[in-house]
Amino acid sequence: MFSRVLKPVASVAVQNGAKTFSTSGQNNYKVVVAGAAGGIGQPLALLLKQNPLVSRLACYDIAPVTPGVAADLSHMDTPAKVTGHKGPEELASAIENADVVVIPAGVPRKPGMTRDDLFNTNASIVRDLAQCVASKAPKAMLAIITNPVNSMVPIASEVLKKAGVYDPKRVFGVTTLDVVRAAAFIGEINGVDPRSVTIPVIGGHSGVTIIPLLSQSQPAVKLSDQGKIEELTKRIQEAGTEVVKAKAGGGSATLSMAYAGARLTNALLRGLNGESNVVECAYVKSDLTEAAYFANPVLLGKNGLEKNLGYGKLNAYEQQLLKEAMPELLKNIKTGEDFAKK
Ligand SMILES: NC(=O)c1ccc[n+]([C@@H]2O[C@H](COP(=O)([O-])OP(=O)(O)OC[C@H]3O[C@@H](n4cnc5c(N)ncnc54)[C@H](O)[C@@H]3O)[C@@H](O)[C@H]2O)c1
Repeated sequence: MFSRVLKPVASVAVQNGAKTFSTSGQNNYKVVVAGAAGGIGQPLALLLKQNPLVSRLACYDIAPVTPGVAADLSHMDTPAKVTGHKGPEELASAIENADVVVIPAGVPRKPGMTRDDLFNTNASIVRDLAQCVASKAPKAMLAIITNPVNSMVPIASEVLKKAGVYDPKRVFGVTTLDVVRAAAFIGEINGVDPRSVTIPVIGGHSGVTIIPLLSQSQPAVKLSDQGKIEELTKRIQEAGTEVVKAKAGGGSATLSMAYAGARLTNALLRGLNGESNVVECAYVKSDLTEAAYFANPVLLGKNGLEKNLGYGKLNAYEQQLLKEAMPELLKNIKTGEDFAKK
């Protein structure tokens, strides 16, 4: 059911070393990476530069290296035209006419920090970027990677609302890494290619709000006892912290996150391009639970979110996880909304 790999819609023909792309849709989209010079931003831009649906790739960051990142990428022999934009005065030119704006701008965690500890720094970064999207590309899809995702999506949504351009079908919190991790771990346990695993991860993107629905894994997870299921659930919930600890002060997940971010961006573009049955999990405006934003599988299309597919039947353990997640999720959402209303 999920779109597994960076599957291009277009077929690629190679003639005399030149790559040509056949068009089944518009096949010609502008993608912005805001935070393009960072640990996630650089490999994410690298992956997007190879996506045949991307015709223009705007790399925005406040770091001095930004024009160099763009120059470096522009030497790759793929069609996407790369532009570099450094600092707030070049933000508008990066954002204008964007189809998709992906946001990994902001500070990452260090050992001992929770995603919520990043709120004070990252909230104003996401607010300012959303403000520019509201004025320069109000129809763009927004994919927010910056943590805490549970609070950043409400902030961006409130900013767009204030500007009178909010479309809940176009704002996505990126939870794809939780799905990617769950599939990787299940692939390992089952001894199969992780790309053959379909696993919904619902709720939000931090600690207890990350709820892998192991009972819905396809193929079924080869774990018979409940203790092992709970261990795997915890590992998926704490996988980000596993990386933070292993990097010993050097930041959080960047490479797997870039892979996951490129996968969601590709899914958004495939939907925009008219492909059917494009499904990914994402954290979106929702009325399925008491939380105003909630992650679960969604069908993507020309207008962004075409249909919220919900999360199916939970077993008793998963219902308990959802119950435990809800207070935290509600608190995170309120923190974001309160900040935006200030
Ligand atoms: N959603 C997820 O699953 C997930 C996973 C991993 C990390 N993250 C989050 O992604 C964010 C980025 O992580 P990273 O490891 O790439 O951090 P990083 O510090 O390596 O990169 C962040 C980049 O953002 C830039 N930046 C800072 N302020 C900016 C602004 N106002 N406008 C534009 N760019 C700005 C910095 O210059 C830097 O290049 C963090 O908040 C991290 O917690 C999310």
